[in-house]
Amino acid sequence: MSLLKSLLTLPILFAHHAYAQSQSEAASTLAVTDIPSSLLVPSGPYRSDYDLGTASVTASTVGASNATATYSSTSSVQLIGITGGASSTTNASASGTSTSSASRPSNTQPCNGWPEFCNRKLSNISMVVAHNSPFVVAHNAASNQVLKVETQLNDGIRGLQFETHVVNDTLHLCHTSCDLLDAGTLEAYLTTVAKWLDANPYEVIAIIMGNDNRVSPTTYVEPFQKSGMSQHLYTPSSDSLALDEWPTLAEMIIAGKRVIVMLDYLANQTEVPWLLDEFSYQWETPFSPTDPAFPCTQQRPPNQSNDVSRNKMFMLNHNLNIAIDISGTELLIPAFTLLDQINADSGNSSLGTNVENCTAMWGRPPNWLLVDYYNFGKFNGSVFEVAATANNVSYNRDSCCGTDGKSGITRLAPSTWVAAALTMFLMAFL
Ligand SMILES: *[C@@H]1O[C@H](CO)[C@@H](O)[C@H](O)[C@H]1NC(C)=O
Ligand SMILES: *[C@@H]1O[C@H](CO)[C@@H](O)[C@H](O)[C@H]1NC(C)=O
Ligand SMILES: *[C@@H]1O[C@H](CO)[C@@H](O)[C@H](O)[C@H]1NC(C)=O
Ligand SMILES: *[C@@H]1O[C@H](CO)[C@@H](O)[C@H](O)[C@H]1NC(C)=O
Ligand SMILES: *[C@@H]1O[C@H](CO)[C@@H](O)[C@H](O)[C@H]1NC(C)=O
Ligand SMILES: *[C@@H]1O[C@H](CO)[C@@H](O)[C@H](O)[C@H]1NC(C)=O
Ligand SMILES: *[C@@H]1O[C@H](CO)[C@@H](O)[C@H](O)[C@H]1NC(C)=O
Ligand SMILES: *[C@@H]1O[C@H](CO)[C@@H](O)[C@H](O)[C@H]1NC(C)=O
Ligand SMILES: *[C@@H]1O[C@H](CO)[C@@H](O)[C@H](O)[C@H]1NC(C)=O
Ligand SMILES: *[C@@H]1O[C@H](CO)[C@@H](O)[C@H](O)[C@H]1NC(C)=O
Repeated sequence: MSLLKSLLTLPILFAHHAYAQSQSEAASTLAVTDIPSSLLVPSGPYRSDYDLGTASVTASTVGASNATATYSSTSSVQLIGITGGASSTTNASASGTSTSSASRPSNTQPCNGWPEFCNRKLSNISMVVAHNSPFVVAHNAASNQVLKVETQLNDGIRGLQFETHVVNDTLHLCHTSCDLLDAGTLEAYLTTVAKWLDANPYEVIAIIMGNDNRVSPTTYVEPFQKSGMSQHLYTPSSDSLALDEWPTLAEMIIAGKRVIVMLDYLANQTEVPWLLDEFSYQWETPFSPTDPAFPCTQQRPPNQSNDVSRNKMFMLNHNLNIAIDISGTELLIPAFTLLDQINADSGNSSLGTNVENCTAMWGRPPNWLLVDYYNFGKFNGSVFEVAATANNVSYNRDSCCGTDGKSGITRLAPSTWVAAALTMFLMAFL
């Protein structure tokens, strides 16, 4: 049990919220030999979409600030190199086989897939959010999704969440460090999203950004303008909205203001009226990404009274990570082998159970269901079925998921042994 407990106290380095970065605790390091070999092959209920093979992990210290981890499977060799030293200068990359085929657009109904949503207030609908939406770099352990943003949107994702970093005076989409994963500029990403919005005029989305370098909100104006997003941006009537003050989807669509943009820190709506201060409009459940209990309590903004929370939108953080510490390099990566269970509609630690729990606690479902690798789950699109259930509508299971760029990631299992330990932890905990 002490081994399992130690999983929870491992330091966290990869994190999209600066909040989490400040939560690091004293570390204990797991050695590969601590895990019985019988647990090296995970035994999750569904792994329909990926085959891990038999994993072996070797960690070797090259230098005081250098670490390399190698993963290989028996069927075909897959490599994941976590190479480099200190967090700010760490590179992570991997190589593997790659297959791809065309995406499969499926968005044919107005008002975010269900015409019955048209007359519902935005605050009365649950939608799935792609955690770190732009981080789809194949074979990079720091990715959080495999399908690109066009496919995400076609499949039904309506919340795009990510962190931003300044590189050469330009906002980039990077995971923790731009040396580790740089998905390009915010402008390029938004250009893609704007094109999708133009082609899908009856859809409403939210963009939820982390201001990791705490730059001035005016820094965000240019990429939104140059990408062609400006005309779509929603500006609220007040600097905070209660549940009943949000517009309906139809109102937003008719006004052509279909994009809600929120920033976690340093928004200033006097200067940039469409760039909303996230925590004035919604709160979040704990960003405790290694805790498979996924508590429904309110974490950010801190010290908000229950009365206020009950009258605002909220986001459920439902992405489970594994903290790994390899020869002094600590990483937080998605719990790959558990994705099908985490994104399932029912079962321990599933999105479905979590939404049920939060609905019971707050009297209404979370507005935003934030997940990693949304296309994994108990069946194709199980995360969308969870949202549909919360919305009291039915979900067509054939409408997910596109397959663009679904490449080596399905075999990218950086540390099966840690995932196995986590499976063990889940079994002991729940
Ligand atoms: C760290 O790893 C890189 C790439 O493998 C290598 O070139 C470099 O010499 C290593 N640094 C140290 C201090 O061992
Ligand atoms: C990380 O990768 C980039 C691009 O390949 C390279 O320029 C940089 O030197 C690398 N950093 C480290 C610490 O290896
Ligand atoms: C939310 O939408 C449902 C379904 O249309 C409706 O019955 C309910 O009254 C709405 N709740 C609020 C608070 O608007
Ligand atoms: C930043 O600017 C320097 C100097 O112009 C250039 O060498 C470098 O490639 C730029 N970095 C990025 C990420 O664009
Ligand atoms: C927001 O911007 C306005 C206008 O520039 C400025 O007067 C105000 O001090 C800013 N607020 C904060 C909290 O920085
Ligand atoms: C929240 O409240 C606690 C206890 O009252 C206090 O210690 C803490 O500083 C507060 N945090 C913030 C951010 O206000
Ligand atoms: C849901 O609530 C039950 C009962 O409180 C708890 O045991 C379980 O851990 C929770 N599960 C999730 C995924 O929230
Ligand atoms: C799930 O989706 C993938 C990719 O579109 C497809 O290849 C697979 O057949 C689907 N599985 C089922 C059970 O429908
Ligand atoms: C859910 O939908 C069903 C069938 O459309 C309807 O009868 C029921 O009143 C709805 N429940 C709520 C809470 O909106
Ligand atoms: C959930 O946890 C309970 C209690 O540990 C266990 O009996 C059950 O088999 C688990 N269910 C799943 C689907 O893993």
